[in-house]
Amino acid sequence: MNAVEIEEAISALAEKPFDRAEFPFAFLEAFGNKETTLKRLRSGASNKSDLGGVLQTNNIHIATCDPGQVTANLHALKSSPATARAKAKFALATDGATLEAEDLTRGETIACTYATFPDHFGFFLPLAGITTVAQIRESSFDIKATGRLNRLYIQLLNDNPAWGTAARRPDMNHFMARLIFCFFAEDTEIFSKPLLFTNTVQTMSASDASNTDQVISTIFQAMNVKQPERAAAGLPRWVDAFPYVNGGLFSGSAEVPRFSKIARSYLLHIGSLDWKKINPDIFGSMIQAVAEDEERGALGMHYTSVPNILKVLNPLFLDDLREKLQDAGDNARKLLNLRNRMARIRVFDPACGSGNFLVIAYKQMREIEAEINKLRDEANRRSDIQVTNFRGIELRDFPAEIARLALIIAEYQCDVLYRGQREALQDFLPLRAENWITCGNALRLDWLSICPPTGKGVKVQADDLFGTPLDQAEIDFENEGGETYICGNPPYLGFTWQSPEQKAEVRNLLSGRTTSSGFLDYVAGWFVKAAEYQEHTRSVAAFVATNSICQGQSVSILWPILYGLGSDITFAYTSFKWANLASNKAGVTVVVVGIGRPGGSPRRLYQHDDDGSLVVREGPSITPYLTLGPRVIVDKRASPISDLDVMEFGNKPSDGGNLLLTPAELPTLGLNASQRSRFIRRIFGSDDFINGGVRLCIWIENDDLEQALGIQSIAQRIAEVRKIRLASPDKGANALAKRAHQLKLMRIGKRSTIVVPGVSSERRPYLPVGLLEARAVVHNKAFALYDAPIWNMALIASRLHWVWIGTVCVRMRTDFSYSNTLGWNTFPVPNLTLKNKADLTHSAEDILLAREMHFPATLADLYDPAAMPANLRAAHDHNDEVLERIYIGRRFRNDTERLEKLFELYGKMTISAHKAVKPQKGASG
Ligand SMILES: C[S@@+](CC[C@H](N)C(=O)[O-])C[C@H]1O[C@@H](n2cnc3c(N)ncnc32)[C@H](O)[C@@H]1O
Repeated sequence: MNAVEIEEAISALAEKPFDRAEFPFAFLEAFGNKETTLKRLRSGASNKSDLGGVLQTNNIHIATCDPGQVTANLHALKSSPATARAKAKFALATDGATLEAEDLTRGETIACTYATFPDHFGFFLPLAGITTVAQIRESSFDIKATGRLNRLYIQLLNDNPAWGTAARRPDMNHFMARLIFCFFAEDTEIFSKPLLFTNTVQTMSASDASNTDQVISTIFQAMNVKQPERAAAGLPRWVDAFPYVNGGLFSGSAEVPRFSKIARSYLLHIGSLDWKKINPDIFGSMIQAVAEDEERGALGMHYTSVPNILKVLNPLFLDDLREKLQDAGDNARKLLNLRNRMARIRVFDPACGSGNFLVIAYKQMREIEAEINKLRDEANRRSDIQVTNFRGIELRDFPAEIARLALIIAEYQCDVLYRGQREALQDFLPLRAENWITCGNALRLDWLSICPPTGKGVKVQADDLFGTPLDQAEIDFENEGGETYICGNPPYLGFTWQSPEQKAEVRNLLSGRTTSSGFLDYVAGWFVKAAEYQEHTRSVAAFVATNSICQGQSVSILWPILYGLGSDITFAYTSFKWANLASNKAGVTVVVVGIGRPGGSPRRLYQHDDDGSLVVREGPSITPYLTLGPRVIVDKRASPISDLDVMEFGNKPSDGGNLLLTPAELPTLGLNASQRSRFIRRIFGSDDFINGGVRLCIWIENDDLEQALGIQSIAQRIAEVRKIRLASPDKGANALAKRAHQLKLMRIGKRSTIVVPGVSSERRPYLPVGLLEARAVVHNKAFALYDAPIWNMALIASRLHWVWIGTVCVRMRTDFSYSNTLGWNTFPVPNLTLKNKADLTHSAEDILLAREMHFPATLADLYDPAAMPANLRAAHDHNDEVLERIYIGRRFRNDTERLEKLFELYGKMTISAHKAVKPQKGASG
């Protein structure tokens, strides 16, 4: 269950008459406990309470009690030995009139009337495994309002199926946006009387809801007509109290969906919520989910938290503004300059959703401006910061509308906060009619026309927001010398997830620059557009993006293009998990990357340490792999850059499965012992090697072919392989039909083979490389060094190599995907002396011996980070010690230092091979 569903369930529970016996079970059910769990608790089988209540292990101890006994009961619950034994996280006591509870882990308590306990639902969310509770608690109003609006939305679609069609969805969404405005306005004195909208609907519409749509429609029409003109427009007197709103919000059709009695009662119920508490930072993201069929399940819980948004905005420009404020002290002139500068700053989010980045940027800037005004003794001054300077592009119409509404609400709330309610109201209506959030496709639109650097950027003049072409900017803008900050969290989609249109958009954008656009994530398009924009304007851009744009092959495709356009990395946050409130699972791994013109102030790299604390380091430049250091791009190579042995792909069968078999299938071949030893070998792919699986393959040297064909079962399999290869559309496969008795490649070690799994979990602290005996075959899902000296294995088993592979090779979710051309052939190793090689040979042997001591444990067991045996850890540690001393004469302090050294060395080795990417020269930014 998500937070919205839980809030709804406990609200429904609180509305029912209190049932003392049933309450604990109903409460647990509201938090997602299944019927079978509740049954076991009811029967007493899993109820551990020693006080006649209900105690669920690792969760909560609940007691219902006689009137007036709540505090005493809570005390008893807390001190009960059963509570401690069962490791309960919460204690809760209620008599149906009041309710008290304690979070036993954090020591926080609540005490409230029974009817209002749902207001504290955030307090109990750890019971549902939702741990991002602090954010939810701050957003409890928004969660409640989203849940209620969602119910209304669904009911209206049930009552008006036609409004759910693609053609009418935009009307439905406009209607919801208008409703939200009315609810907010009637609770914030924007309307002249509290609850003006809700009460008018209640009194003027029949209780059977037959004319609710007409009443609402009349109110909407009134708000689009100035008061003196209303009589002429045929509007009734009872709408006189509604103000003229403008802003395009109530222009266009005033048609309203029909209301059933249930929908009407939902609407009145929503009106009774206190909309003053709406938080435009996140409300928009939540409410937009209501209108999206596929998003509704999560009800906006995917929204981006404010701290994450600030990871983009602070380094992008807010930190600088705050520093300037600090520097200005109480110098009135400097403060004025800063205020004037801020008035000309534009923030532009070209994938703005419902505007959360813009809203946060606006609110933060207003906070800084308010401080300036205070220091200049101009506390009540009207703001110079225009909401229309917070521009956006959004593909979908509803979020685009909500973004504008969210900014309007943010403006009002900031005015109330910094200037007072009276001043805020005075300036609020009528709303401005410009369209500064553009609904359209950011990869197709011209950003310079939507957010022009200077001059008048108006393409279309109109006063009807919904009726005019929404992909046109409609705003006057004179901003000579102003700064533009581009920000956002554009969509991340790997190539396989992109629609044909999206693939075409990226291809078009990159045409003439690369033929490999197919390897890039969709988000790369925003970086390229931003770099193109930066060719013409003074601007810096920072986006949240999947970390794949700074790893593996993407780097060598995307970054030369951005560098070629004259942009450079200005700051970055290295990989971190982007968790959202939809679940307690880890989210995607993302980075934040800022790009601007090269030169200027030092580049800052933000990185979370192992203990989670933030470390900020500075340097003259940041690599596209997000380390401090000069620009360096690691390209695939056909042979090792260092003096290492050749690593090859394993053997690809191309056999339709006929040359491979499981041990259970072996008897079906009917071979005798000598035939078995001649023709059957073990074959290892990544999975077999790591997890100890056994697979076999038929291995026939050419000289043995005649003998093999004499064995009917083998001859049959060979015939099948031939058939499959001949039927293949691939000419290479057809040619292989001539030697259908063999795998595509027949590479094998004469003495031994070092095997490197093609895929390995990033959780393992080392790559599980290994050594196979002479007869073993390596499958193409792994890599092999045939008959190579064992010191090569010491390199692959090192932490240095782990770090390198994790950075320069592609990652698939949480797995490393090894590549010989990109990872091994590029691995920079200092020249190794004979002594170095001998030492590394010993340390590799020690690793193998340490593993042997745990026979028959698999490599998956041995490299489980939580259970890695101490002797194996020690062997790896010694291996690292030997190797790292060869690099720098001591151990590296951490992986960051390892990576930076590797890039430095790689840079030197490639410069000597004339392969380095030359830095661009340009203005600072
Ligand atoms: C990951 S969301 C971020 C929205 C918002 N900033 C947030 O944090 O919730 C990406 C947004 O980009 C929009 N989008 C997707 N493709 C787009 C395109 N080609 N042009 C403009 N917007 C697009 C989506 O509709 C979505 O609202």
